[in-house]
Amino acid sequence: MANAATARPPGTAADWTIPQDWARYTPKEHAVWDLLYVRQTEMLQNRACQAFRQGVEHLRLSDKGIPNFEELSARLAKRTGWRVVAVPGLVPDEVFFEHLANRRFVAGRFIRKPEQLDYLQEPDVFHDLFGHVPLLSDPVFADYMQAYGEGGLKALRLNALEKLARLYWYTVEFGLIAESSGLRLYGAGILSSFGESRFALEDSSPNRLTFDLMRVMRTRYRIDDYQQSYFVIDNFDQLLHQTRDADFSPLYRELETLPDLAPDAVIPSDRIVSRGSQKHAYRGKFQ
Ligand SMILES: [Fe+2]
Repeated sequence: MANAATARPPGTAADWTIPQDWARYTPKEHAVWDLLYVRQTEMLQNRACQAFRQGVEHLRLSDKGIPNFEELSARLAKRTGWRVVAVPGLVPDEVFFEHLANRRFVAGRFIRKPEQLDYLQEPDVFHDLFGHVPLLSDPVFADYMQAYGEGGLKALRLNALEKLARLYWYTVEFGLIAESSGLRLYGAGILSSFGESRFALEDSSPNRLTFDLMRVMRTRYRIDDYQQSYFVIDNFDQLLHQTRDADFSPLYRELETLPDLAPDAVIPSDRIVSRGSQKHAYRGKFQ
């Protein structure tokens, strides 16, 4: 996760990484992970996409306790060359993209408190590891994340980050995928959220729309509530090819001529999977 943080905290390396200090986790902290893991694994049966379930198995995330980043990285690197590195919190956009472009996923090392199981302002190690890392063991998704990092560095130079960030939001964080057995979850923001796992797939409130790159980059999003629209991909190849093989410069120029869309908008060119009632009492802000 990135933002406009500028001052590097003391004790961090030049690339903002810090040691995970795995030995410093307390039994209570490991117990929070175990509780979240069991609860979420049960919730995700028949909801998570196939690649996620395979990733959990390959990376042995069912082992007890908060994963050790070194051990996890060794298993992950064997499959796709990705590694997980710890950072103290949000990092500047440039640092975040630089890590992704080099197949390093930055993760928070702290874990939420037992009284915060369902609400967190900053991503913790459960969101970052459980939500994001399983898919990094899928070769195509792994390439997509690297391509996104490279695209991010370019978007910074073109002053187009606001648009590109929406692609990350509506895919990596809140994406749905159409599998032969039905709609499934692949976005980490949903996969790590007990409430949104069910909401995103089964609630009648949100729109579910077929993924379209330009449409997504025009769409604002909610930052402190469930999403009002989810975008559905067919497979990860679609994401990879549209991101890695396209020149976004003309797309950004075109986007400058098009108005942004509200998070709940439905427009005539949309291919609607299911149109939402928008009856959920959305409380939050959006950007
Ligand atoms: Fe995330």
